[in-house]
This record gives sequence, structure tokens and C-alpha cells, in this order.
Amino acid sequence: MAPRKFYITTPIYYVNDRPHIGHVYTTTLADVIARHHRLRGESVFFLTGTDEHAAKVSDSAQERGMTAQAWADLNAAEFKKTFTRLGISNDDFIRTSEARHKSRVVTYIRQLMVTGDVYQGEYEGWYDAGQEEYVPENKAKEQGYRSAISGKPLVKKKEHNYFFALSKYQQALRQLLEEQPEFVQPEARRNEVLGRIREGLNDVAISRTGAGGWGIAMPGDPEQTIYVWIDALFNYYTAVDAEERRRYWPADVHLIGKEILWFHAVIWPAMLLALGWPLPRQVYAHSYWIAEGQKMSKSLGNFIDLERIDHYVAAFSLDALRWFLCTQGPLGSTDSDFAHDRFVEVYNTDLANTLGNCASRVTNMIGRYFDGQVPASPAGREDSDARRLRAAAVESGLIVADLYDKLAVGAANEAAMELVRQIDGYIELTQPFKLAKDPDQRDRLAMVLYHCAESLRIASLHLYPVMPRKVEQLWTMLGLQYDTNNGELGKWREWGGLKPGTKITKGEALFPRVIP
Ligand code: MSP
Repeated sequence: MAPRKFYITTPIYYVNDRPHIGHVYTTTLADVIARHHRLRGESVFFLTGTDEHAAKVSDSAQERGMTAQAWADLNAAEFKKTFTRLGISNDDFIRTSEARHKSRVVTYIRQLMVTGDVYQGEYEGWYDAGQEEYVPENKAKEQGYRSAISGKPLVKKKEHNYFFALSKYQQALRQLLEEQPEFVQPEARRNEVLGRIREGLNDVAISRTGAGGWGIAMPGDPEQTIYVWIDALFNYYTAVDAEERRRYWPADVHLIGKEILWFHAVIWPAMLLALGWPLPRQVYAHSYWIAEGQKMSKSLGNFIDLERIDHYVAAFSLDALRWFLCTQGPLGSTDSDFAHDRFVEVYNTDLANTLGNCASRVTNMIGRYFDGQVPASPAGREDSDARRLRAAAVESGLIVADLYDKLAVGAANEAAMELVRQIDGYIELTQPFKLAKDPDQRDRLAMVLYHCAESLRIASLHLYPVMPRKVEQLWTMLGLQYDTNNGELGKWREWGGLKPGTKITKGEALFPRVIP
């Protein structure tokens, strides 16, 4: 049987900005989810990339005396380099200025012209140039005719252009969101979108004039450029619109930030309906990181930028940053604060004092009392405490997988760390260092340490997606090796995977304690 496929995407990032914590967060989260699914043995396709045809790209390029393409090349390379350095395991990186994307978008738009879903018309409205979007009259008024994002004045713009017949799909979209609650998550976000759909949908302009040649020309009308958002949304499809990749469609998860939900939960599915293509299984819109209690903004200059990110990686390790992002991040419908003190606290509590400490205790004791070889757990010696730990370890596999299915990545990782805490509790309870002093307790000591090491192995499988490097280091200590790209998690997480006699080595501390 062919393995199950799993297709996950991140937004494609505006190529004008340097990568910051927001981009790193969504991409890291998607990476963790992708790694979990690879561990399950699924055939994963994980896509990220850059959105390049915004007018601000050609404007900034012009200011620098460069071509838009050269400027985009430079910045796209920065995103690519950053994601590589941060250990992101994306299977492809799509750039909207690539020929493979552009030619396909033209084909799709042509198809929509044939069905009548794209037609010619005229539009006048308030335009937010920074966001590349029209703001409806009532919202524009509410905002004092200024951009809700940049605060700059909105401009009245009149265009002759092409429209997409969004209104035709109002009923279908409403039904989709009402009947398939998992289509848009979290729940609070689904309700917001549903509310807006119920208010009614207007057709939307999908082309612009005067883009100066930067962008994808409207088929048959080179004066007009396809609106950057329409061009961008298609990336999820163009990337897999090839013989060997077609089976990945529909996407399983479009992971995005809350500010771009409308495009993903309304415009995108409507376009897919118009084209007659299957819809993605889920659009998940997470909330925002703020920094030290304040909204991050260019004017405040308080973005957690690449320099800060690199500082955390150097001081605490990349996996520690991933742990912080995934367990403390704004996955649900509330924002999260990236605060330095909190980072140190989480690092010390979860990583240095719990996981790191447990790993070094277990490997040290096996080193000292069993000459560095995993002891066999003698038959009939398991008591109720040991049985409880084993049951918790076995059960944790289902709990973690179920939480990943709900995209509760933070909770999945907390559940894994909880198992490590249970191992610690079991060590406190059984006091193996005392047992070691009594030769009559040799069998019991073997049973206790086997249960600790085996539970730790199972916890490490759950933790691998979020901290792949540290867990591989731990696996080396435990004499284990796993082909994580072709996982057999169902089998690996069964009790008994750690074979008696396996050589254990004491490695360096996984997470040295940091004095705040
Ligand atoms: N190019 C569009 C997306 C097109 S997708 C077809 C875009 N790009 S962006 O560069 O502005 O990136 C936006 C995304 O970055 C958000 O949706 C979110 O994933 C991430 N974040 C940006 N700032 C963020 C925070 N402060 N916190 C968390 N994530 C944030 O919009």
C-alpha cells in the first residue's frame, strides 16, 4: 500500500522584508508538523517560498537602481539561507517569479475566463498600497481613511480591470464553513470569517494597471497585471501541478497568520471551486508574536529580527528556540509574548532541569551500575509503579499523535515532556542510587533502569520533530538510530524497542543550565 500523503504549506513571504520571528515561527511550526508526519511514515510535501510580485518590490528595486528581479533574487536568497540555517526541512521553495509558477498561473486564469468566473469591469475604491489591497468603504471610514497596518493614508483609486466572480460562491463558502468546521481553525477565526461571509460577498478585482512590467501579465491583455494576491495564492497549486507531485493535492494544511485569513478562507477556496479542483482540508490561522509586551512594528523598531534569533540560537541552541516557539507560541487565537525572561525560564525548567537532567541521570546510572549496557528487565519483577510508567509511555504515543492531528503542537510537546517528568518522578520514588548499594536489589535496579531508559526512548520519539538535533544526540547516547525520513512510528513507539545489552554512552549535557 502506498504511504499516506501529507501536504503542508506556509505563507509565501514578501520578498521585500528581511526574515523575522514571524516568518521563522510559521515555518518552524510547519517544519515540526512535517517531521512528525515523516516519522509516521507518510509521504510528506512541505512547501514554503517567497511572494515577489508586490509593487513595493519594484519600488524598492528602483530606489536602489536595481531591476525588480535582481532585488527579489537577493532577498529570496536571504529567506532560503535563513531557513537552511534554521534546519527547516522544506521539500521545495517556490518563488512566484519563477517560470514554472508564472506559466501555470496564466493557464489557470485563462480557464477562469472561459468559465466566465473572470470578466472585465471597472472598479473604484480605497487602496492600501502597503498591503496591496482595497479596503471596503465602511472599513476605510472606520480607520479614518488610513491603513490599519502602516497608518499611511489610503488612496482613492479607479481602475479598469478584471474581476473574479466571488459573489457566485457565497452560498457554497458559507456551507463549507458551517458544515466543515475543521476547514478553518481555530474556532474563533472560523466564526469571524463566517460572520463576514454572511454579510455578503462582492466580486473582487484581480488585475492592476501600471505595474511597469513587474508581475504576471493578464492573458491577452498585457496592460494588465494579475493582482499579486491572486498570483500568490496559486503557489500552493503550481508547486504540485506536475505529474510526479499531483497526488499531493489537495493540501492537508495551509498554515498561516491570522491577518491573511480572508484570502485563504474565502478567496482561495472560491477560486478552487471555480476551477473545479478539490479544496484543502484545513486553513489554520495562528495568532501573533508580540515582543516584550509590545506589538512589533517597523516604527518601534522592536522586531525580533535575524540578529536576535541568531543570538538565541548561539546562546541556547536552535532546538531550544524551536521548543520555545512551539510550546509558548501563538498557535491558538491569542497572541504570545516573546520575552527574554520567559525564554530563560522555559529553557531551564523544561530543557535543562527536565529533559537534559533526566537524560544524564539515566545514562549515568546505567553507565555506573551496569557498565554502560542496557540491563534486561528481569521477568516477573515489574511492580505497579513500573507498570504505571510503562502504561504512560505506551499511551503517550496515541495522545501525541492525536494532538498533532488537531494541530495542537504545543500540547503534543507538553504531553511528551510530561512523560519525561513521570520518569523523573519514578526515579525519585524508586531511588535507584540507593538500590545500587544493596546487592540483593540488583534485579530490581535492572528493572527500574530499564523502565527509565525505555520510557525516555519513547519520549524522545515524540520530541524528535521539535528538537531533531538534540534528540539525535540523545539517540547516540542511547545507542539508537532511526531513519526519520521514512519513519515507522507506530512500531518504534511500542514498548521494548531498547534492546538489553545496548551500549550506552554518556554524552555532553544536552541542555547546560543557563544562569539568567
Ligand atoms: N505574501 C503574503 C502571504 C501570501 S500567501 C499566499 C504575506 N507575506 S508576509 O511576508 O507578510 O508574511 C506574513 C506571515 O508571516 C503571516 O501570515 C505569519 O505567518 C507570519 N508573521 C508575520 N508576523 C508575525 C508575527 N508577529 N507573529 C507570528 N507570525 C507572523 O503576508
